[in-house]
Amino acid sequence: MAGNKVLRTRLCDILGIEYPIMLAGMGTCSGPTLAAAVSNAGGLGVLGASGLSPEEVRGWIEKTKRLTDKPFGLDLILPHELSDSMPLPENLKSLLPAEHVAFVERLMGELELEPVEPTDFWSRISMDVVQEVVRTCLDEGVALFASGLGNPGWIVPEARRRGMRVTGCVGNTKNAVRLKEAGVDFVVAQGYDGGGHTGRVGTMSLIPQAVDAVAPLPVVGAGGIMDGRGLAAALALGAEGVWVGTAFLATREANVDAFDLGSMFVSPLWAEVWNRRMLEADDEGTVVSKISTGKTARHIKNRLIDIWDRSGLGYLPMPLQGFLIWDLYVSISKSGRSDLVVPMAGQGVGLVKEIRSAADVLRDMVEGAIEILSGKSPAGIV
Ligand SMILES: Cc1cc2nc3c(=O)[nH]c(=O)nc-3n(C[C@H](O)[C@H](O)[C@H](O)COP(=O)(O)O)c2cc1C
Repeated sequence: MAGNKVLRTRLCDILGIEYPIMLAGMGTCSGPTLAAAVSNAGGLGVLGASGLSPEEVRGWIEKTKRLTDKPFGLDLILPHELSDSMPLPENLKSLLPAEHVAFVERLMGELELEPVEPTDFWSRISMDVVQEVVRTCLDEGVALFASGLGNPGWIVPEARRRGMRVTGCVGNTKNAVRLKEAGVDFVVAQGYDGGGHTGRVGTMSLIPQAVDAVAPLPVVGAGGIMDGRGLAAALALGAEGVWVGTAFLATREANVDAFDLGSMFVSPLWAEVWNRRMLEADDEGTVVSKISTGKTARHIKNRLIDIWDRSGLGYLPMPLQGFLIWDLYVSISKSGRSDLVVPMAGQGVGLVKEIRSAADVLRDMVEGAIEILSGKSPAGIV
């Protein structure tokens, strides 16, 4: 693609990439196939490794290296509760309120869902596992470690010695400054529009305020960035790159690596329904709910959230809500219940018109942004 000088930012130099476009680390959806496709197209692929065991993470890193010789990153959610005071995984069950356990059991019955063997997924959201995964990233020469939630500051000194870059996603300027003080290489500012965990400040308002708050540290914008218009807008607001979830979720390469992971609920059926719902959804097609993890996350509107909200029962805090709901999601998937799938996506989902290749999504984003930033009219505007 010619003329990429207009898109050359400090992020390209920090990460050794051609275009300032990063694949958002979407837990299990951003696997080696998708990450490698984005890196091969000139962006930075990022593995969404939350919930994977250390062996699975190693397998994903090895597979990504077989698919690309370009740099790639890895993302984990690091909730601030993830500390020595966090309940041990084996104690989580005893901390679930009886009312919530009874509600989920009743739901399973009323929705005629088959019981499943309990998974050990939530035993992976522990400090021991996170530390082992970080060590693996350092040993394997992964280019970037990104934290979805929480503060990755404790990783910075060792990362700096070993040449790995570190970043974290934030939803407000307070946390952007906190990450700057922790020594990250750049900050990802994700606005309310975005899919998955989300804060309260809209993307358009957050990016310039984050840029001012952490200057001269580079900021990468996220949330609702779907095409060249979004990339150009983010750069105009002062960001030096974009972190893109939903637009890359609507690709043939998304999700496929999750099918082989025994602990995951994302099956071919779940992914197919997800694609269909993305194609159907419009700008009002999403809702913020704590149903999946106990923290606010943007989902495509769905029946299970409706049922839960109508019940009047509150959600539990992280990690208890995820621990409570996980086997229900696995059962929905194993029972082939397409009506109960709980997909996530950002408000930009209304712009998804077809499921494409990741390379096409990236190329169109680059070409669209170059056209706008080099002074030509954006498509559709005379
Ligand atoms: C399905 C899905 C899963 C996500 N999982 C994670 C995750 O595991 N870690 C993380 O840092 N962010 C996660 N996110 C948030 C993304 O990293 C990113 O900030 C967001 O998708 C950007 O907004 P957009 O979807 O509008 O592009 C997820 C987003 C989606 C849509």
